[in-house]
Amino acid sequence: MNKITKKFAVLGHPISHSLSPKIHNHFAKQFGIQIEYQRIDVDGRNFKKTLNELKEAGYAGLNITLPLKNLAWEVCEELSLRSQQTKSVNTISIKNGKFFGETTDGLGLIADLNLKGVALKNKKILVIGAGGASNGVMYDLISQCPEIISLTNRTISKSHDMREYWLEFAKEKKVTINVLGADQHIIFDLIINATSSSLDGGQAVLPKNLNGSFWYDMMYGQQTPFLIEAEKNKAKFSDGLGMLVEQAAAAFEIWHKLKPDTQPTYETL
Ligand code: ATR
Repeated sequence: MNKITKKFAVLGHPISHSLSPKIHNHFAKQFGIQIEYQRIDVDGRNFKKTLNELKEAGYAGLNITLPLKNLAWEVCEELSLRSQQTKSVNTISIKNGKFFGETTDGLGLIADLNLKGVALKNKKILVIGAGGASNGVMYDLISQCPEIISLTNRTISKSHDMREYWLEFAKEKKVTINVLGADQHIIFDLIINATSSSLDGGQAVLPKNLNGSFWYDMMYGQQTPFLIEAEKNKAKFSDGLGMLVEQAAAAFEIWHKLKPDTQPTYETL
């Protein structure tokens, strides 16, 4: 039988550690689809040029990772509503010579929390961090209609800006969004670490006296100071490996219109 091999890639810097090729190849096997999925190391300066070269070379889809998600948002000719609002793109589909951008990070986070039995409706959530990673999942967090989303960050002014930015959408969904005060002691149902503190090699600056039932670190692959703190608090916790797999599954579904079963993938990783 004559099968066409579609070409895909993940772009970022650094990229050598990326598990995306392994995950996508594993999903493709489930359906007997033949794909080629590469890692491409590219920085911001060469990003646009590389995208155009990949389009010319006939690539069907691209995943975008750090530090290029906001740049991808700028470059895409069409964007999903989620990407428009989060100013982030992690999945590009190339169709009729055009780049279509979507972000599946928030979908991945929610899917993984669901798998772990963590519901968000009417719950109290704390989001630590006010950069691209935290803003990238806010659309989906608000869409789940929690009672409160509290924001906090090492540079607290950025949490205030972030609140301002998301306030209208939060009001639409009847979600209270506030900035955690220094002496406020709320018991959260879920605490999400969306800082890059474990990446920068320095000491993580985390809020004092955190109290939460479930602690989720969007990073994976190491025991972060945040997860150590969760353990000390005798709370349930998780790193972000599940988010990685589930965001990949959502990207796979966009490209192939097929929903992979993620369970066997966890077993191989
Ligand atoms: P990303 O796109 O990964 O979110 P970013 O936009 O550079 O990257 O944002 C990094 C986030 O991690 C910020 O919220 C940053 O806090 P500041 O705004 O105060 O810089 C946070 N962060 C980075 N290193 C940290 C550390 N050691 N402790 C606490 N927060 C840290």
